[in-house]
Amino acid sequence: MVLEAIRYHDGNLQILNQLKLPHQVEYDEVRSAEDGWHAIKDMRTRGAPAIAIVAALSLAVELQGNALSNKSDEVLAFILEKLDYLVTSRPTAVNLADAARKLKKVVENSAKRDGADGAAVSKAYCDAAAQMLIDDVADNEGIGKYGAEWITKHSEGQGVSVLTHCNTGSLATAGYGTALGVIRSLHTNGSLKRAFCTETRPYNQGSRLTAFELVHDMIPATLITDSMASALLRLKGPSEKIAAIVVGADRVAANGDTANKIGTYQLAITAKYHGVKFLVAAPRTTIDLDTKSGDDIVIEERPGREVTMIKGPRFDGVDVDVSTTEIVSIAANGIDVWNPAFDVTPASLIDGIITEIGVVEKGGDGKFDLTLAMEAHN
Ligand code: MRU
Repeated sequence: MVLEAIRYHDGNLQILNQLKLPHQVEYDEVRSAEDGWHAIKDMRTRGAPAIAIVAALSLAVELQGNALSNKSDEVLAFILEKLDYLVTSRPTAVNLADAARKLKKVVENSAKRDGADGAAVSKAYCDAAAQMLIDDVADNEGIGKYGAEWITKHSEGQGVSVLTHCNTGSLATAGYGTALGVIRSLHTNGSLKRAFCTETRPYNQGSRLTAFELVHDMIPATLITDSMASALLRLKGPSEKIAAIVVGADRVAANGDTANKIGTYQLAITAKYHGVKFLVAAPRTTIDLDTKSGDDIVIEERPGREVTMIKGPRFDGVDVDVSTTEIVSIAANGIDVWNPAFDVTPASLIDGIITEIGVVEKGGDGKFDLTLAMEAHN
């Protein structure tokens, strides 16, 4: 089975329902921008690049499945309004806003062309949205290659073990993945001893999704709870010694401060304390030069029930019954909950930002300069 979070062929869009993983593999059809908005908000699809692509394609299927005005300005206004709506689904990952900005530019240019009608504007939109799916896989393969080279170069001996957080793989992207792409690339090169993945509370993207991908790809891997990371970094055994922590990103600010899944910040602190390299792997669609620093990043807060409840199939002590789904309370009733979905890791704790065109390191002033990496991007 090929792990595909997003299936898009001939105007038909299906997303792998990630709420049901790892126990059930089920695809949901997305027929409209409204369907796409709900799939993102409900986290049936998630991960910064995947969110952007599903949003873009959800509008593409709506355009292809409905009769449109033949007036270019009417189709243009319709697309712009839907894109603004889609961007409201989740606020932190910039990939969605970036995709919307680029798609707006495409349709505005298309509508200005001599003789452009509604169908032409719609086609320009759908072609550009479909291209985003293709480009993301290529970007991730580049990230994997550069990240694996960098880690190998900065490590001693043969083979490395790395720790990752959340899910940044095929399930969070159009395919291959960012931080998990680096792990895939190390494994393909024969340079990976072992991948460690955190559980990633409260939503368990690590234990449900990353562990699923690692088992699927037969990559040697070990799951830990989030609270075990510092203890792991103290280990010096041949396959436990961690060469690097590699994480993804939802938004990288101009100064390199990085918003990523809650728990990333504490991993960066413990990496610094233990002298372990800390790397962010992200396509340039995740870098936002308009956001000056992490202080300007809006952090999504999610419902408290994600912390107090857990959902899964019944376990009778021996077997998991995948035909059942239960929601179980795991906290005292009435407790107040704070549930930020992301945190910001200061650039000072990050050793490198792995992009599809290479690894950006700090200059002599100890600061990241991301402008060069972004020059050719748009
Ligand atoms: O809340 P999620 O599951 O959408 O959060 C995902 C993450 O934080 C990922 O690390 C990030 O989006 C990078 S995915 C390549």
